[in-house]
This record gives sequence, C-alpha cells and structure tokens, in this order.
Amino acid sequence: MEKAYGKQPRILIADDLQKNIQVIGTILRKEGFQINVAVNGKQALDLAEKTVPDLILMDIMMPGGDGIETCRKLKEHRILKKIPIIFISAKSEPKDILRGFEVGGSDYVLKPFNSNELLARVKNHLEVKFYREMLEKLSYERQELIHILCHDLSNPIVGILGVLEILEEVDNFEEAKKYFSYLDKGAKNAYGIIELVRKLEKLDKSDFNLDLQLEKLTELIDECVGMIYLKSEKKSLKIITNISEEHEVLVERTSFINSVLMNILTNSIKFSNPGGTINISSQKVENQIFISFKDEGIGMNQKTLESIFQIENLKSRRGTAGETGTGFGMPLIKKFLGKYGGSISIYSSDSKEKHGTEVVIGLKASKV
Ligand SMILES: Nc1ncnc2c1ncn2[C@@H]1O[C@H](COP(=O)(O)OP(=O)(O)OP(=O)(O)O)[C@@H](O)[C@H]1O
Ligand SMILES: [Mg+2]
Repeated sequence: MEKAYGKQPRILIADDLQKNIQVIGTILRKEGFQINVAVNGKQALDLAEKTVPDLILMDIMMPGGDGIETCRKLKEHRILKKIPIIFISAKSEPKDILRGFEVGGSDYVLKPFNSNELLARVKNHLEVKFYREMLEKLSYERQELIHILCHDLSNPIVGILGVLEILEEVDNFEEAKKYFSYLDKGAKNAYGIIELVRKLEKLDKSDFNLDLQLEKLTELIDECVGMIYLKSEKKSLKIITNISEEHEVLVERTSFINSVLMNILTNSIKFSNPGGTINISSQKVENQIFISFKDEGIGMNQKTLESIFQIENLKSRRGTAGETGTGFGMPLIKKFLGKYGGSISIYSSDSKEKHGTEVVIGLKASKV
C-alpha cells in the first residue's frame, strides 16, 4: 500500500555500534529513506537540530548521554519535540520499556529485531506523523479564518454601530450626510472581509495568492483611523499620522486594512494607558515603504517578543482595560505581509522608566 508521507523521509539513527548502524541503515536506504547517523546522545541532539529528521531510531545504552536522556531533551525542544522516537534496545524489562514511553518515545523495539517488523513500525510512525501535521495545519487554517471572521470583522461593524449612535442625536439631514461615508466604508470593509474569507477557503490554502495592487497609503491609514476612532476615544488616546501623500504600497486592500493595519492598531490601543499617544509615520527607502506604529503603552517583555509569531505557542494578555484576545493577530499579520512580499519588525520595552512598542512594517513601493 502506498504510504501517505512520500518517498524520502529523513531518519536519524543514534547507536554506538557500527554493526547496528549498518544493518538498520541498509534496510532504510533500500526504501529510499535519507539517513543520518549519530554515535552518542550529544551527537544525536546536534544532528537533530541541524537536520530536523522525520523520525529517530534511538539506542538506549550509548556513551555521551544515553538514549533516554537524549529523548527527554528532544521532547523539551520547541520544534524537535514533535519527531517520533523509536527506542531500539536490548533492555527487555517491563520497567525499562515503560520508561521509554514515559519520556516520550513513540515505540520500543527489542534487540535482536526483525528487519521487516522494524521497517513496518518506522513506516507506521511516519504515517501517523504525516497525518498529525496535516490535521494541525488544517486546524491552524480554520483558526485563521475564524480570527478574520470574528476578530477582524468586528472592527468595521463596531465602527458602523458607533456612527449610527452618533446619528441618533443628529436631526439635520445635511449634518447627517457627513457621516454617510463612514457607514459606506465600514459596510464595504465588512463585505470585503467576507469575500476575502470565501476566497481563502477556495484557494489552495498552503499557497494562496492574493490580488496585489498599489494603494495610496494615506487612504488606507485614514480608513483605519476612522474605524478605530471610537475605541481610541474611549481611552482618550491621541493618534498622530505623518504619512506622505506620495507613498503607495503593494498590498491586497481588504486583508491589509482589516487584518494587518487594524490588528496592529487595535494592539496599540489595547495595550496603551489612557491619555497616551500613537504615532503612525512612513518613510521611503529605495523601493520600499516602511510604516512605523509607535505607542507609549505597557510594552512587552523579551519572552513575549521572541514568541510573538509562534503559532504553536499562542499567548494573549489582557489589555489595559481588560480587553481579551486570542494571540492570533500577530501570526496572521506576518502571514499576510509574507503574501505581499513585505516584512515586520517589533521593538518594545516594558521598563518602568520608558515603556512602549514600535511595530515597523516594510512593503514594496512598486509592482516590480
Ligand atoms: N502594541 C503592543 N503593546 C504591548 N504588547 C503587545 C502589543 N502588541 C502585541 N503585544 C503582545 O503580544 C501578544 C500577541 O499579540 P496578538 O495581536 O497576536 O494577540 P492578542 O492581541 O493578544 O489577541 P487578538 O489579536 O486575537 O486580539 C499580546 O497578547 C501582547 O502580549
Ligand atoms: Mg491583537
């Protein structure tokens, strides 16, 4: 039966006996697998970091860090912990076998082993890994769509509700007309988000392409500032924009406004103390536009900063007014920026004396 994981998985064999390496290596190479070999625990850790194998066959008794200890260390690693480890050992006591599973081993094969059985186990674990990764990816893509639909769609709708509230107090049609453009923009953004989600659903999700256009930056920023006006008012925040009328950026409009700009700005608002200022400015360097969003909020510590884009480790803090979130905003921003060929950098300090955050995004200023 054709296995789902493809033809050339990489397998790390960790064993101090040359003969074992030869026997196992021959069986696996015959199947077209790529092989790396380590002769002790330390080497296994180093090689695992370098090559990130799909599976590890681990002897237990090795000099320089035994297999159990090496497995424990691998299971503490953010990325390597997902690699299935099959112990191959002459230690046949139930307590030894149990220990192998307790430290995170996926399987335990006794020496001397039968080659065909070992191969069958390797293939099974590779297949389980393949399907687990596929499910994780699917679940992540679902979460992305839910974030766009629930989190990002709420901004234009809250904006519309805010304008309607103001309109209730206005009894003069000419005066009311001034607000119509806000309603129009809010409704168009909300509809645009729904269309975007429909499109993302249909496209091949691992490699979707968006329709990129050059857009005038002042227009995009003004639209966002209009939508977050009420939120910023509630915290008495001042938003200062300093964007050149000439700056144009290559983006897909709906996702850029609603998922990139709005997520950065709602973070700035969420983590600012009342009375603070948010500065938005742009700068052109060669063929790139850099947009800076600088707040004077509570900032974040180094640990948060380092893991802010890690989807397997999503963390969310409450805002200064108790606002809640999912921790999905930043990974989504990075993903969309990647689709536009853009970049993001974050600088932040949470020290008492000087706290605040600056998010800088870089975008192409032309289609070439
Ligand atoms: N401007 C900022 N100031 C201080 N901390 C920030 C700022 N932006 C992001 N963070 C920190 O990074 C974390 C992750 O941000 P992200 O936007 O991904 O998620 P979130 O805002 O918590 O949730 P959601 O975006 O779903 O509302 C936040 O919880 C917060 O700890
Ligand atoms: Mg956020």
